[in-house]
Amino acid sequence: MFVEQKANCCSFEVRLDMWLIVVLIISLVGSIQSSTFSSCIPNTNCQCYLTAHSFTFLNCSQKLTDLPIFHAQNIVNVTRIVAPNAFREWPVQLCKYKNVQILDLSGSNFQNSFVNFSCLTQLIHVNLSQTQLNRTPEFHRNMSNHLQFLDLSKNQIKHVDGSSFRSFPNLISIFLQENPIETIGNMSEFFLLPRLQSLNLISSGSNGIRLQPSINERYWEKIGELWSNSPRKTFVIRTKNLPFQNLISSKNSGKSMKVILSKLLDSTIFGSDQTPLCNCVDLRLYQRLFSSIDTLKKYSSALFQTTTCLLSDGVTHARLFDRRTYLDFRCPLLSKKNFFSSIPRLSFGSTIFSASKSFSFIVVLLVLLFKHV
Ligand SMILES: *[C@@H]1O[C@H](CO)[C@@H](O)[C@H](O)[C@H]1NC(C)=O
Ligand SMILES: *[C@@H]1O[C@H](CO)[C@@H](O)[C@H](O)[C@H]1NC(C)=O
Repeated sequence: MFVEQKANCCSFEVRLDMWLIVVLIISLVGSIQSSTFSSCIPNTNCQCYLTAHSFTFLNCSQKLTDLPIFHAQNIVNVTRIVAPNAFREWPVQLCKYKNVQILDLSGSNFQNSFVNFSCLTQLIHVNLSQTQLNRTPEFHRNMSNHLQFLDLSKNQIKHVDGSSFRSFPNLISIFLQENPIETIGNMSEFFLLPRLQSLNLISSGSNGIRLQPSINERYWEKIGELWSNSPRKTFVIRTKNLPFQNLISSKNSGKSMKVILSKLLDSTIFGSDQTPLCNCVDLRLYQRLFSSIDTLKKYSSALFQTTTCLLSDGVTHARLFDRRTYLDFRCPLLSKKNFFSSIPRLSFGSTIFSASKSFSFIVVLLVLLFKHV
């Protein structure tokens, strides 16, 4: 249908009067549509805009209890349903629209509903933002799942499990911000999703997010291996109550860690009072890892700007990857061997200083000797 229309339009000779006619027709159709459908669902203020492939419901003010069926025989042609603030419970008849790909049910109230998409296998874009959900919905568990964008933001979800997204190989973005997230199970599963590029976990709660379990070295190796085989991969993770140090421990320092850090450069990991205290050993390990990433923009990256450790006052944040934090903290500038030993530290600076002092002493001595000769 679309193709035909395009062909028609492009063989037109573009002339002003022609455009006027087109504009007239469009406004006429528009007025017919709005007058026909303005009371499309009885006892509501809903406004419906219906085409063969797409349903849009506006201004329903959470009055609907189910999705209407207008043309039972054409139901399979509908691929797009946009119904913001429309429902006060889960629309059971949604299952009948089995070819729907784009679904916006944001702003509905599904607080006491069992939100279940198992019956829909063609979904690409799902928006359930601000729907009072307290758990992630059920989806069809089939590895050929098409889902690419899933918006679950502004809900009441406390527990997120990475493994419930395992059967979505095509997911590109997951929006989970503004949920009071407390725990994340199987976090590594998110990083293993082959096409995932962004994960927003900026929680609305004030408690720290716990990982169950945390991602161990073996998983980071696996993730690093996967990512090093996809050169264009970037992964943007956004967190607030999940400090970088809890995500990636300083003990992880293998080759794959460099790959991982360079793919995470655009991430924002905001500090909170759960951020660990700064200490010289961690600072040194994290900074060495960061400095080994071979990209020009690493110091202006979002990751560099936002990742912090806490100073001992428990309030002030200092940048984890910034060399100045290391210096301000008076961490010893020693060789590796001395740094890790427990022997009282001599600072590298003072060693250079004394060496240069003795060198200048010798020079002065030589000059004096020369003068005398
Ligand atoms: C939406 O409904 C309200 C009444 O609840 C009405 O006042 C308002 O004009 C409607 N908005 C639109 C865009 O039709
Ligand atoms: C989902 O809907 C909300 C509210 O209508 C909107 O602000 C948000 O941008 C939508 N999300 C996506 C991914 O389109």
